[in-house]
Amino acid sequence: MSKRIPHRLYLSEEQMPKQWYNLRADMKEQPDPMLNPGTMKPVTEADLYPVFCEKLAKQEMDSSNRYIDIPEEIQDFYKMYRPSPLIRAYNLEKALGTPAKIYYKFEGNNTSGSHKLNSAIAQAYYAKDQGLSGLTTETGAGQWGTALAEACAYYNLPLTVYMVKCSYEQKPFRKTVMKTFNAEIFPSPSTTTNAGNAILEKNPDTTGSLGCAISEAIEKAVTTPGYRYVLGSVLNQVLLHQSIIGLESKLAMEILDEYPDIIVGCAGGGSNLGGLIAPFMQDKLLGKADPRIIAVEPASCPSFTRGKYAYDFCDTGKVTPLARMYTLGSGFIPSANHAGGLRYHGMSPILSKLYHDGYMEAVAVEQTKVFEAAVFFAKQETILPAPESAHAIRTAIDEALKCKVSGESKTILFGLTGTGYFDMTAYNAYLEKTMNDYIPSDEDLQKGFDGLPSIPGIQ
Ligand SMILES: Cc1ncc(COP(=O)(O)O)c(C=O)c1O
Repeated sequence: MSKRIPHRLYLSEEQMPKQWYNLRADMKEQPDPMLNPGTMKPVTEADLYPVFCEKLAKQEMDSSNRYIDIPEEIQDFYKMYRPSPLIRAYNLEKALGTPAKIYYKFEGNNTSGSHKLNSAIAQAYYAKDQGLSGLTTETGAGQWGTALAEACAYYNLPLTVYMVKCSYEQKPFRKTVMKTFNAEIFPSPSTTTNAGNAILEKNPDTTGSLGCAISEAIEKAVTTPGYRYVLGSVLNQVLLHQSIIGLESKLAMEILDEYPDIIVGCAGGGSNLGGLIAPFMQDKLLGKADPRIIAVEPASCPSFTRGKYAYDFCDTGKVTPLARMYTLGSGFIPSANHAGGLRYHGMSPILSKLYHDGYMEAVAVEQTKVFEAAVFFAKQETILPAPESAHAIRTAIDEALKCKVSGESKTILFGLTGTGYFDMTAYNAYLEKTMNDYIPSDEDLQKGFDGLPSIPGIQ
């Protein structure tokens, strides 16, 4: 007799993973090393100390330890909202009339509303542990800023957030939540940093980008004694912290005697996707299983599908180390569409390498189709998804509809990274039919590629 699959599977506290999984330990070829832009030599752990906490710098450079203990204090914090549920989308399946089995891992079930808290609390913990006096960061959609504000308030650490200007204007209540947790917030680009002023001088009407906000946050960190900068995505350390999503998902699926044929996640800088796929990608790398893995990005900011695999700066002000990744160029300013958290010019170097080596696929989807899926999903599953998460929903639905045509009963797992209750401007634009689909032309993208750094002997 086949097992009855519940609508929601919650692991117990005891079943929550006690270690993060470091995917790099199983990669046959490593991502190319970050380069110091001054010397064009690979960065060392010590090079990162002025910007990052020391233990996080260590995690950033660690490509050999497969499992890394989650400090008990972080486990205790996680227990306030984890393990997160693995949900079988019975109603969605029925409404689609698909023979596919659709599962989603819901990370919006915490006060910050997204998966970002998994890394925020870890980064705040290591900052406190090092005795730092404060942190700075950027935020696009505001989800990361909110999560980090909560984590910093928990450890009584001051936090300065540079929020991408168009999101700052579109989402006034995100600011209120962050302020409730004591964070100081500036719209980026701002006039409070040299980087912000330089960007404004060139382009006074810019709506900002994550790349601009990163430059400002780094400048503030390195010019304020006892401060360090933290980033909510892209970095190896962030994917490491987010591996808890995939580890819990895999365990829950094992309990249900299930294994995904297709895994889908939205991709901004790659942290939720990198976390969700981590243990499944391990199976793929070790030849134990071969699930299809699909990254979903907005057609307006298509780093995987139309970007170049090249060394580039992680920020617009060109102060960070150079990372080899899929990029649209650090000067690329995406249109002010609504999936704020997916509007980053680059992509995690780990995911970039895996994509480049053929271990995963990517698709780009248009904004109105994403919102169509979001509204359909909300009605069936009663969760109002974040616009970012709805990119994954769009592709999961498309794959389930293909199963309807082929008659195959594939098992699809997607990451529902967060809720969209602060994204009412975007939902409103969709419902009132004022939302536009913007797809950059090849000429638009070429402007970004023209700004890629030239590195003698490399590119
Ligand atoms: C809800 C949500 N999902 C996904 C993302 C994308 O980030 P990442 O690719 O790092 O998971 C964001 C970023 O802000 C977000 O807020």
